Amino acid sequence: MKILRTRKEFSAWRSQKKFNHKSIGFIPTMGALHAGHLSLVSHSRKQNDLTVVSIFVNPTQFGPKEDLKKYPRTEVADLDLLRKSKVDAVFLPRSVKEIYLLKDETKIQPRSSLTNILEGRFRPGHFEGVVTVVFKLFSIVRPARAYFGEKDYQQLQVIKAMVEDLFLPIQIIPVKTYREKSGLAMSSRNRYLDSKSFKSAADLYKVMKASNTLSEARKKLSLLGFKLQYLENWNDDLSASRAGNKGRWLVAAFYKNIRLIDNQKK
Ligand code: PAJ
Repeated sequence: MKILRTRKEFSAWRSQKKFNHKSIGFIPTMGALHAGHLSLVSHSRKQNDLTVVSIFVNPTQFGPKEDLKKYPRTEVADLDLLRKSKVDAVFLPRSVKEIYLLKDETKIQPRSSLTNILEGRFRPGHFEGVVTVVFKLFSIVRPARAYFGEKDYQQLQVIKAMVEDLFLPIQIIPVKTYREKSGLAMSSRNRYLDSKSFKSAADLYKVMKASNTLSEARKKLSLLGFKLQYLENWNDDLSASRAGNKGRWLVAAFYKNIRLIDNQKK
């Protein structure tokens, strides 16, 4: 497995003769890897000649009060997992400057209809940071296909829309949310939970699954100690919210100060 720390190194690796006409499957990540990330890798390995993972904690998608500084960094363990998963190359920019060259740079503005709802209402600027870094990573890696988890359902829709609107020649492949046995959606931020909270955090999934109405779920979750930011019902492409209970339920909640998100088709 090649570890490439600069754009130049990546481009030299990519332009080797033996890789002519080989398709690349790409999984952008922020590291602190878990089985959810690895399920994206295994989808890519089935559909492409080469699989590339990037690890970059992207500062522009964190708000001023968010966890950029303490975001978990576990580089040695990450590289070990990727080696075992038979990834061909890891793009691991050696510094933020490798990706962001200027203060006053061109940015990608995501569709506002998709970003002034749900996560976007609580994390202003977040999706602009996400699509801008993903666009830059796409330009460096030039993949045929890129893999995104349904765990971050709105992010997936925002990226699909960017690719559609900017005519990027890249196929976006959604991958189902990978869960703990308890039902808790795997997430790098789960590392912040102590072992007791780790168990109870699964109630977010369980209540969403067992409830028939949003108001029933809201009531139960707040009794269990979740502080809800939103719990809403939308159609699959997030173009309209839905009045009834059938649709895609999306939730964000704090549990013991740890922010959890999840979604489920009802
Ligand atoms: P990160 O949170 O590291 O997630 C990287 C990819 O893994 C995303 O597509 C995410 O949806 C997917 N993923 C995370 N947990 C998952 C799970 N339990 N099941 C399935 N897929 C899961 O998302 C980001 O990084 C960043 O915003 C990024 C796209 C890399 C841009 O900086």
